[in-house]
Amino acid sequence: MAHSQLQVPPPPEPPDNPKFQLFESDAVDWLRGVADDSVDLIITDPPYESLEKHRAIGTTTRLKNSKASSNQWFDIFPNDRFEELFDELYRVLKRDRHFYLFCDAETMFVAKPIAEKAGFKFWKPIVWDKVAIGMGYHYRARYEFILFFEKGKRKLNNLGIPDILTAKRVYRGYPTEKPVEVSEILTEQSTQPGELVIDPFMGSGSAGVAALNLGRNFGGNDKCDEALSVSQTRLLEVGEVSEQLMQPNELGPDNVQLGLGEVVV
Ligand SMILES: C[S@@+](CC[C@H](N)C(=O)[O-])C[C@H]1O[C@@H](n2cnc3c(N)ncnc32)[C@H](O)[C@@H]1O
Repeated sequence: MAHSQLQVPPPPEPPDNPKFQLFESDAVDWLRGVADDSVDLIITDPPYESLEKHRAIGTTTRLKNSKASSNQWFDIFPNDRFEELFDELYRVLKRDRHFYLFCDAETMFVAKPIAEKAGFKFWKPIVWDKVAIGMGYHYRARYEFILFFEKGKRKLNNLGIPDILTAKRVYRGYPTEKPVEVSEILTEQSTQPGELVIDPFMGSGSAGVAALNLGRNFGGNDKCDEALSVSQTRLLEVGEVSEQLMQPNELGPDNVQLGLGEVVV
């Protein structure tokens, strides 16, 4: 009797049909059409400038000929665009919500103060341990950072999760594809079922797959056709397209005029 009183109630069932909506646009242009305070979580992984350096010295050879990419490699997003990006991310995120940014150590030092200037509180870098060593010559790369930012104040759902997340790197996937398991931890920590997760640089849509797997909704964007096609295929296996998820009125007249915000399917 006493034992059954101690049992924790099961978590609420996630919504039956998590929804997603995809867009093809420049990330900042896309965000400009998203309403203020309308998003519950941002997980994103821009193609940061320092990747170019690794490519120039030949440490990212695999990425030049990815199976998933006919255009060899995607454009980088220059550091001097971080200010406009973080201003928009801060504006669209609701209060008391989180933002996670995948990046390397070099980009962390550039991105952190710009995100703080936009209004975010920086908590700490989370380490994604890729288990096996990767390219490079000096202490070959085995980790990447995920910068953990907050707007307002929101308690993480599980205070027992460590700041090192271990998940094997994705082999032969989309260039720099991130494991779904990592985004699932971030999403579980920072949202409730039915909330809206976005990724303005979604690539193969890993953050979206994580969101839909957990009964959250997802709004994704990328400027590359290949990314749209790969992520659409993946997301259709776990969720449903919605044309209303990010309401047309939330997209704003500018986006419509520019032809942005088109649903891909
Ligand atoms: C590092 S990849 C994202 C990989 C993704 N996290 C995954 O797991 O597949 C970055 C993506 O940003 C896209 N991209 C580059 N510049 C962009 C821009 N200005 N606006 C939107 N997307 C952009 C690229 O096409 C690429 O798909």
